[in-house]
Amino acid sequence: MAILIKTPREIEKMRDAGRLLRKVHDALTPMIQPGLSTMDLEEIAVKKIAELGAIAAFKGYHGYPAALCTSVNDEVVHGIPNPRRVLLEGDIIAIDCGVVLEDYYADAAVTHAVGKIKPIHRKLMDVTKAALDQAIRECVVGGRLGDISASVQEMCEAEGFGVVREFVGHGIGKAMHEEPQVPNYGQRGKGPKLKAGMVLAIEPMINAGGFEVKVLQDGWTAVTLDGSYSAHFEHTVAITEDGPQVLTN
Ligand code: MF3
Ligand code: CO
Repeated sequence: MAILIKTPREIEKMRDAGRLLRKVHDALTPMIQPGLSTMDLEEIAVKKIAELGAIAAFKGYHGYPAALCTSVNDEVVHGIPNPRRVLLEGDIIAIDCGVVLEDYYADAAVTHAVGKIKPIHRKLMDVTKAALDQAIRECVVGGRLGDISASVQEMCEAEGFGVVREFVGHGIGKAMHEEPQVPNYGQRGKGPKLKAGMVLAIEPMINAGGFEVKVLQDGWTAVTLDGSYSAHFEHTVAITEDGPQVLTN
């Protein structure tokens, strides 16, 4: 399978999907406070996506039961919204959402603090966000996929954090997951050359401790093996002759 190149027109459609997805995240952000359940967030998102005329991309994907992934504390990714999972002061929560608008996908994740959190968790979130921003700057024509991967790994490991191996970013377009896989670890100068028209969902998943994860009995929720907290940020990014364009902000 080749890496699909999008036309400028297709990128504009993906930007429309991305803008819409940003509105969903923006509706969730002010709600995040102690006492809210992850199912409350799901309900807000489902309403907002419908109101904006899009389709929730995750729901039904390989049987996934919700529009959001809500991953709290040591949950790395794919936490399932649950009315009994009530947010507490000091938690961190990664909210991941994907939408489809007129056949094109957008995918984005943000990690939020619930009230006051420990400094180490603030640092984990800041470094993960900074690693995504750095990875986006690597999205230039003539670069290589490995430059993106290596930049995330270098920045996060330099701070002593664990870079998750078992889940990776991905190409995105008329499908949520296209070629290529976009790991958060790798080597500069390696991998496919980056070309104008490629669109990537870049999503560092970074643990405060070791990189190892395991999937719980529910078949979805991935947690850190050592119980350390994990952060996740994701943007959908188009590579163009004019440089990287973030479609989800
Ligand atoms: N952003 C994640 C991904 O790209 C979310 C997928 S959740 C799923 O894989 F439920 F849809 F699998
Ligand atoms: Co994704």
